[in-house]
Amino acid sequence: MKKKIEKLIEIKKTALNGGGLEKIKQQHDKGKLTARERIGLLVDEGSFDEVDMLVKHRCEDFGLGQQKYLGDGVVTGFAKIDGRPVALFSQDFTVFGGSLSEAHAEKICKIQDMALKVGIPVIGLNDSGGARIQEGVVSLGGYAEIFLRNTLSSGVIPQISAILGPCAGGAVYSPAITDFVFMVNKTSQMFVTGPSVVKTVTHEEVTMEELGGADTHSIKSGVAHFAFQTEIELLSSIRKLFGYLPLNWKDRPIEKDFDYNQNLLVPKLDEIIPSQANIPYNMHDIILELLDDNDFLEVHKHYAENLIVGFGRVGGLSVGIVANQPAVLAGVLDINASIKGARFIRFCDSFNIPLLVLEDVPGFMPGTDQEWNGIIRHGSKLLFAFCEATVPKVTVITRKAYGGAYDVMNSKHIRGDFNYAWPSAEIAVMGPKGAVEIIFKKEISESDNSEQKLEEKLKEYVEKFANPYVAAERGYIDDVIIPSETRKKLINSFQLLKNKVDKNPPRKHSNIPL
Ligand code: HXC
Repeated sequence: MKKKIEKLIEIKKTALNGGGLEKIKQQHDKGKLTARERIGLLVDEGSFDEVDMLVKHRCEDFGLGQQKYLGDGVVTGFAKIDGRPVALFSQDFTVFGGSLSEAHAEKICKIQDMALKVGIPVIGLNDSGGARIQEGVVSLGGYAEIFLRNTLSSGVIPQISAILGPCAGGAVYSPAITDFVFMVNKTSQMFVTGPSVVKTVTHEEVTMEELGGADTHSIKSGVAHFAFQTEIELLSSIRKLFGYLPLNWKDRPIEKDFDYNQNLLVPKLDEIIPSQANIPYNMHDIILELLDDNDFLEVHKHYAENLIVGFGRVGGLSVGIVANQPAVLAGVLDINASIKGARFIRFCDSFNIPLLVLEDVPGFMPGTDQEWNGIIRHGSKLLFAFCEATVPKVTVITRKAYGGAYDVMNSKHIRGDFNYAWPSAEIAVMGPKGAVEIIFKKEISESDNSEQKLEEKLKEYVEKFANPYVAAERGYIDDVIIPSETRKKLINSFQLLKNKVDKNPPRKHSNIPL
């Protein structure tokens, strides 16, 4: 027995070295960690139980029969993060560039199947050149098996992807189906086809980083939800995100202990809204004041910055925040902001995370660019997502709630549970100037002093509509509250809503406008 045990230890020792010490050195020289080092940083110490360490590929073509590595380019298994279970895979670039063979795909599918069966999240650490070219259609089939499982797991268990190297082809479509994509600056890229294919097809000269680096995807395309300078920061941020999530759609996020006897008033909030409606302020300042420990994990921080989304806690409960940002494009809703918001809301609704909406929005963005690119189709995604969501939903209107955007941003009419407004709220079909110029057009133009008439009508309109009281009279607003009391109101509201039950009609699935 002793000899057999020694042999097993020796085999496993070889497996731990992946593609060998030289390839590990190359990985380190590129500023990248190995697949196993990444797992070590991501999960609780000593909690990783590996499976399929001894799997090898079965391809004999193109000389691959002589190159077999234990594990075949991916480390898979189960571990804990802050004591809670997770399934994970970590691709090993030191073995055939982390490319996906039939055996490699089977390993990933095995942990995906188990995660779905037992209801735990999957984290994928991707570092792969895509389908293993030498295996041909077999590796394409392997990707399709993974995509299917990604799709079937969507909304059942959270799925998180980190991109930690040059990921091409199939290696980007699996992460794209998952809930969150993390990237790291300079060493990670995502593209369907690399720069050389781009040059052949479109004659564009572009670097890997320009084509699909972390900046490109976290600022321009929105493919990446998070971008970091180092892998260490990235892995620690995945741990943080994990803390806000339940294990599966039937589970609830962890509720942290909370001392209700502490002072819940935030006097600073009474001073935050500028005296003039056209002067911006930073919604982040309000968000931080409303959350426990002023702690906010922002998602899509640099993409469509006119809408802020992210996670935090209110009175110990995990919440998803959706907030207009008046400091960027006056907080207007455009195509990218609508898509960003809709996706985030649907994630929260899938996983029982209540929604806190902070509203200061002048409306949807006008113009040919937006219309021709489908603001109607994309804006309706945001509306659809709010309408469909059955989690607890609380809105605070801090200033503007104009036009369709009033309806869209979780109004009472689309099942907002508690809708509050600050005294600075302005709730109307449109802003005073636009409205007055339309409804009093004739009166103003025919007046001897049209400027004075305009001022007069503006004053009348502002008095009548640029306030929260007309909506409050009708019960569209549950209460007009003093800003400094908002945090207390929110804590009470979310506690009350904790056991909320609401349902949508039975159907196969809805048909969100895509
Ligand atoms: C087999 C691969 C491979 C692949 C890389 N390698 N990609 N082996 N299949 N797809 C191997 C290389 O031969 C090399 O082996 C080692 O991995 C490291 O690769 P390098 O090229 O030396 O590394 P680097 O310069 O960092 O470039 C990384 C890369 C590049 C950008 C990923 O290798 C590359 O462009 N690979 C091909 C990408 C691609 O087009 N994949 C197919 C996509 S199609 P040695 O032995 O020399 O160390 C696809 C279909 C699914 O995925 C579509 C579903 C919708």
